[in-house]
Formats: sequence, structure tokens, C-alpha cells
Amino acid sequence: MKIVVVGTGYVGLVHGAVCSEYGHEVYAYDIDADKINAFASGQAEEIEKYVNEPGLTGIIKETLGKYLFFSSDLKSFIEGTDAIFMCLPTPSNLDGSTNLTFYDAAAQDIAQGVAQRTDKRRIVFVNKSTVPIGTVRHLQEIMDSHGVENFGVASNPEFLAEGTAISQARRPDRVVVGCDHEDDFRILRRVYSQFVNHVRIKYIETTPETAEAVKYVANTALLTYISFWNGVGAKIGEKFPNVKIEDLRLGVTADDRISTWGSFVSNGAGGSCFGKDIASLIYQLRNVNVSTKMLEASYEVNEYQKVYLVDRAITEAGFQFNNKAIAVLGLAFKKHTNDMRDASSIKVIESLLGKGVAKIRAYDPLANESAQAVFDPSHNVLFEKIEYFASAKQAIEGSDAVFVSSDCEEFRGLSRTIEETVRPPYLVLDGRRMIPDFEELAARGFVYLAVGSMATKPE
Ligand code: UDX
Repeated sequence: MKIVVVGTGYVGLVHGAVCSEYGHEVYAYDIDADKINAFASGQAEEIEKYVNEPGLTGIIKETLGKYLFFSSDLKSFIEGTDAIFMCLPTPSNLDGSTNLTFYDAAAQDIAQGVAQRTDKRRIVFVNKSTVPIGTVRHLQEIMDSHGVENFGVASNPEFLAEGTAISQARRPDRVVVGCDHEDDFRILRRVYSQFVNHVRIKYIETTPETAEAVKYVANTALLTYISFWNGVGAKIGEKFPNVKIEDLRLGVTADDRISTWGSFVSNGAGGSCFGKDIASLIYQLRNVNVSTKMLEASYEVNEYQKVYLVDRAITEAGFQFNNKAIAVLGLAFKKHTNDMRDASSIKVIESLLGKGVAKIRAYDPLANESAQAVFDPSHNVLFEKIEYFASAKQAIEGSDAVFVSSDCEEFRGLSRTIEETVRPPYLVLDGRRMIPDFEELAARGFVYLAVGSMATKPE
């Protein structure tokens, strides 16, 4: 099939690359010519400046010029196209609604281009990035208003998690395809021929609106489950003596019906999707007069989790942040990424600065550079207090407390680093329960305070 991917962010590039691997002729288009040139160079360091996903560069190198082509001139490859995938950024407005500015601009350009094609084969416009339920009709109107002929609209949401996107795109749990017409289902079955009738992959065909809704319900269900553990499981561990959160998790998730994923208590879930999607679904449901209490609770628990350890440090450990130096480890929203979008560290650092700390000594194995762009002192002078270090040990040196804000595996060895680097009195705040041998820390005079348990203090 001849496929066009519009928007070469994370979603579009991964989708385009994996389609090219399956022998489709893929044209990846973006208005940003610098980005397109970087991808077209086939050079890892150029590609990874924009999208850094394990396995992605290898596919691009293999299929570039054979099955995969990059261009910032949409009209040059529109002839003969079977499917156009819309992979545009859809950020949140302040009221939670979805900002469709990029999406609309791209849809208008595509409509103009496709309206002028000489080839009149059936073409299907597919929403791949997350868009509010019903956006597919808006897309249809744009195409109609430009006189595009012989087309269909579809929704085919993307469910990839960062860090494992390539393996998931090659073998997803499910492919959800929403179309109005059999002709369009048929085109998408050919695009996804490797998944249709697969023994383990669910290939689900439905209406476009249902497909759009699947994405919102899936992401808000995942966040709600995380919030359940943070709002209930973690709190039981923090308030009832002698409850061990790890054992509580094992006992509960031994039931096959209760997922292990999401049961790891944390100082909040971040990333590009959860916050944006739950805000958007709340907005969409309010618009049709549906109570959104449940989603609001899930959102609020998640936001509260990001900062409440800072307050617990004051009330449970008697720690005073004023003028202290605090090491913050793990800046990205999770391990194995430099992505700072909605990272809990942002709220943690803002809260610490609000409490009057003298210095933040920050470290992340991958995200030091992207964090510097987020904590830009021209936006907030207090960000000048943040210094970045090349290792956890260096960040901890000379600090009065450490806050572990993400699940980087290397943090599992922190108790030894802490013992070797600083002397008590010293406070360890663990937002991810990354320090398994915390009792030894307490035995050596350190105070340990984590999500999911009471403070462990020296005798
Ligand atoms: C998520 C969804 O998993 C994916 O299906 C959707 O398409 C996009 O959003 P991603 O943003 O890459 O993917 O992150 P994910 O791995 O799901 O983690 C989200 C956040 O939840 C992270 O901050 C993670 O650390 C946190 N998390 C996850 C927990 O706090 N506890 C857990 O048990 C699991």
C-alpha cells in the first residue's frame, strides 16, 4: 500500500517506520523541514535529536529510500496514496479541551492537495493521534469542503508506551480500526495484513467514534488504576503500622483479574498522554452533562501524589527545607527516556523551591539536557538554583536530603551511595520505592520516608 504519515513526532515516525518494515511504501511528511532532513539523513545522532526510541533508527536505516521516504512537500507524493495517517500533536488547552490547531492546519493542507489529485482511487484519512470523540466527522467536513472525492474517514488510535514502542508496534495487544464503509476497512486490513487473523493480536473493527473512545477509556482506566493504588494501597501502608506495601501488592495482584502493571505506588504518573487525555475526557463528558467525579478524583489523586512527600517530610520527619540543598534524582517521567512531559519532578522541584531551598542538585541518566529546557530561568528565576550533575553520587554530595522521583534501575543501589557520600542527619525521600534495603539506611542513622510506608527513623 502507499501510505502517507502526516506529522513525524513520536507517533508518526514509529508508525511510518514499522509500516515500511512490512513492505508498504511510506511517505512521512512534516512541515518542519529541519526535522525531515534529520530523518532523511539516516544518521542516528540526527534522528535521535528528535525521537529517541529503542530500535527506531535501525528500521529507518534499513528501509530509507527503499520503502521509507521523507518529505516536507506534501503535494509531491499524494498521487496513488491509499491511506493518510494523521499523527499531529493534540495538546491541551487550559480548560482541558483539546487544541486542534496543528491538526486543522494539516487537514486543510492535505484536503487541498488531495482535491487536486488526478488519480481518483479510494483514499482513507485515518486519525492516529488522540483526538476527541467525533473528530472524525470534523475531518470529513474539511475534506468535503475542499471537494475531495472518493474518500473515507477512519480512527485507528495508537496505544504505544514510550521505550517499548517498536516492539509493541510490531506486536500490539490489539489494533482498533473504526470506519464507516467496508471499502475503508478493506484498505486498512491490507495496511495491517500482518495483524488480521493473528492468533494473539485482537484486530477490532468498529465505528470511528468507538475507536476514538477506546483510546480515552483505555488511558483513563490505566491512570485510574495507578491512582487507586496511590490513593488507597499506598495510604494503607502509610497509616497502618506493620502493613508492608510490597506484600500487599503481591497478595492483591495474585488474583489474575487484578493487574500488576499500575500497582507500583509512586509519586504520580506522568508522560505525554495520561494528564492530557483525562483532562480532555472530563471536558468532553461535562459538555454532555455527565458527572465526571470519578475521573476528577483519579486526576486529583495523581496530582497530589506528585508533591505530598514534601509535606510528609515536614510533618513526619520534622525536616525544614529552608536554605537546604536537596538532591533530586530522576527528572524524566519514567526510566529509559529523556521525556520531561508532565514529569513528577517538575512539581517536586517547584514545591521544593517554594519551600525556600537554597539549591537543587539534579541528576537523570538521560534527561539532564531536556530538563534544562523545562527549568528555564528566563521563565522562573528560582530555576537558577538548579544545578545538574553527571551522576547520582555527585548530586548527593553536600546535600541535606535526596528525593528519588523516577524509577531508573540504577537507583536501587542508592543506599550504599548515600552511606558513602553523606552523613546523618540526612533525609531520604523515595517517590518510587527504589531502595529495597532502606532498613539498613535507618540503622545507620538516616531517615527514610517513602510512598507507601511510614517513616523509618533511626532508633
Ligand atoms: C502510556 C500508556 O501506557 C500508553 O498505552 C499510551 O498510549 C500512552 O500513555 P507512556 O506515557 O509511555 O504510555 O507511559 P507508561 O509506561 O504507561 O507510564 C506512565 C506513568 O505511570 C509513568 O510515570 C510511570 O512511571 C507511571 N507508573 C506506571 C506508575 O506510577 N506505576 C505503575 O505501576 C506503572
